[in-house]
Amino acid sequence: MTTLSPKGTVAYDIIGRIAWLRFNRPEKRNCMSPTLNQEMGDALAELEFRDDVGVLVLSGEGTSWSAGMDLKEYFRETEPKGLGAVRQAQRESYGWWRRLRWYQKPTIAMVNGWCFGGGYGPLFACDLAFAAEEAQFGLSEINWGILPGGGATKVALELMPFRRAMYHAMMGETIDGTTAAQWGLVNEAMPLAALRDRVEEVAQVLLKKNPVALKATKDAIRRVGEMTYDNAEDYLVRAQEAANSFDNEGRHEGIRQFIDDKTYKPGLGTYDLEKRKA
Ligand code: ACO
Repeated sequence: MTTLSPKGTVAYDIIGRIAWLRFNRPEKRNCMSPTLNQEMGDALAELEFRDDVGVLVLSGEGTSWSAGMDLKEYFRETEPKGLGAVRQAQRESYGWWRRLRWYQKPTIAMVNGWCFGGGYGPLFACDLAFAAEEAQFGLSEINWGILPGGGATKVALELMPFRRAMYHAMMGETIDGTTAAQWGLVNEAMPLAALRDRVEEVAQVLLKKNPVALKATKDAIRRVGEMTYDNAEDYLVRAQEAANSFDNEGRHEGIRQFIDDKTYKPGLGTYDLEKRKA
């Protein structure tokens, strides 16, 4: 059963521990208005710690993933209200992207169509990203006269080599999903008709992993990039020790099922989470 946000800008279904969360303004190509940003923040808060959610997938209703910020509601109608309103709108959008970057559950962007400008914030916030070959990506800010803000410039340089990021930001051209995969914006691209099945397949793999280890791993990948090797080494020791305080038995069970039970090989798959509970 689909849950709709009060103003209908966001929708989600929970099916088999996968939360299928959607931008839900298809008639506006899912551009992000202040209302959508508030409602997306609320939806993420509702879903984050539920036991019936193990993976979150973010996609868009209709032909678009997200056409970026709502040029009318987010910019033109907010700016006349003054600096306080502008800062509030920024806090609300940047806020849900930040929450998504550090989300408790693994997250997957399922890019079904247009992805522009501000859309790069949630795209980067998701741990993994899969796109339709037919999808179109663009830093279109330059086309209407601003720089790629809201973190989009940072996202471009985090995900792409310098020359590609520079070209992408300066030229304002779109690239399709296949090129986005080659350039590193998404993990893989495939025909739109196959997209949901592939994302579900990946989600099913993640659902079988130790959730404490997954959260520690995804945070570590985001954190260590800006650390020296020695700092990263130390951080990773501390992060594992912190994870142990949430789930000290998980790794013991993982070793036990391999060494004693011989029921799986860690190099080739995951230990059985259910067995431990039994
Ligand atoms: N802000 C406000 N309204 C938008 C946006 C947006 N970002 N994107 C689409 N819409 C609206 C259109 O104004 C139109 O509204 P209307 O029906 O009331 O006239 C409706 O959504 C449908 O848009 P169309 O342009 O008719 O849809 P089409 O499928 O032909 O084109 C496309 C889709 C290419 C995404 C086009 O809408 C577009 O270029 N949108 C803007 C993309 C963009 O540059 N976003 C800003 C990035 S910069 C940033 O985010 C800071």
